[in-house]
Amino acid sequence: MTLLMPNDAKSEPELSQTGLPTEQRKPLIDPFGRRVSYVRLSVTDRCDMRCTYCMAEEMQFLPRAELLTLEELNRLCTALIERGVEILRITGGEPLIRQNIMSLFKALSRHLSTGALRELTLTTNGSQLARFASPLADCGVRRINVSLDSLNADKYHAITRFGHHAEVLAGIEAARKAGLKIKINMVALRGVNDDEIVPMLEWAHGYGMDLTLIEVMPMGTIGADRADQYLPLTQVRSDLESRYTLKTSSHKTGGPARYAEVQETGGRIGFITPLTHNFCEGCNRVRVTCKGTLFMCLGQEDAADLRAPLRASTSDDLLHQTLDEAILRKPKGHDFDIGRHHAHPAVPRHMSMTGG
Ligand code: 5AD
Ligand code: SF4
Repeated sequence: MTLLMPNDAKSEPELSQTGLPTEQRKPLIDPFGRRVSYVRLSVTDRCDMRCTYCMAEEMQFLPRAELLTLEELNRLCTALIERGVEILRITGGEPLIRQNIMSLFKALSRHLSTGALRELTLTTNGSQLARFASPLADCGVRRINVSLDSLNADKYHAITRFGHHAEVLAGIEAARKAGLKIKINMVALRGVNDDEIVPMLEWAHGYGMDLTLIEVMPMGTIGADRADQYLPLTQVRSDLESRYTLKTSSHKTGGPARYAEVQETGGRIGFITPLTHNFCEGCNRVRVTCKGTLFMCLGQEDAADLRAPLRASTSDDLLHQTLDEAILRKPKGHDFDIGRHHAHPAVPRHMSMTGG
């Protein structure tokens, strides 16, 4: 098996295509009886943007040798699928700026073909979508989440620091043309884009895209006060209800959003509310960072290193043993709190490490 370093390949590497062993391994079930069926996997901590709520302007990124190689990512995903993971969401940083990332999507698409994996998807800022939308669709990706916090080019630039609005809109257009179903993610920021929630909803639904609003989460030091940015979505929802008829929907995507149908537009709006609404009871997910650290909960520090067992042997036995031990430590819930008296983020790592 070749262990390619992230950046040493000029042409796209061929990753191994081994299928799942015929002998079944047991599913990952935590002490509260929740089965882990959803994994978010960050493939890079780097990003071509610096959203103000996510990153500081000057960021220290990981040295490349710390990252899992594409082949290690391929092996890890395959092992997780073997343990019953059905939905795999590739995230970052910005996943599409990882060199040769399409070779990972190509390799993973084999598990879609066999039906072992139900969904292969990604969260992206859209900057590279114009180039990658069609290859992603060819790999069996059907739905994507695109982060877009403003429809105003100047404001978009101010929020993302390095982002180019026109580029992202072109990316979204390419994704629509490639037949990808798009969900727009918008972080609701008090005094920044709260006046854009209605226009964003009209725009997204007008193009047949769902919209999910996200409460700003206290993750990582960013050089700004999050209490100032925090806009509770309970308030947003009741404002929307004075304008639209929202019908609570049973729609589930495997994620933590609660959805409502907007009768007037025929579209769907999701709310991700880690702070006003604890969504832990039904948690079916874990996160893996780009260096192979498994976080059993977004809001807790406890983690397990999967890179060491991946690198220790070419057999996956050690990896499975580490997964078994880790899953027993999955906590019941998170404890985010964004009160003004909290000078420090509840979780010191940035979202770009754990990938949302
Ligand atoms: N709080 C809420 N959302 C965040 N995101 C990144 N950092 C934060 C944060 N601190 C969002 C991105 C993207 C998704 C993966 O998470 O905008 O839409
Ligand atoms: Fe990059 Fe997404 Fe973080 Fe913005 S929120 S800096 S696009 S990782």
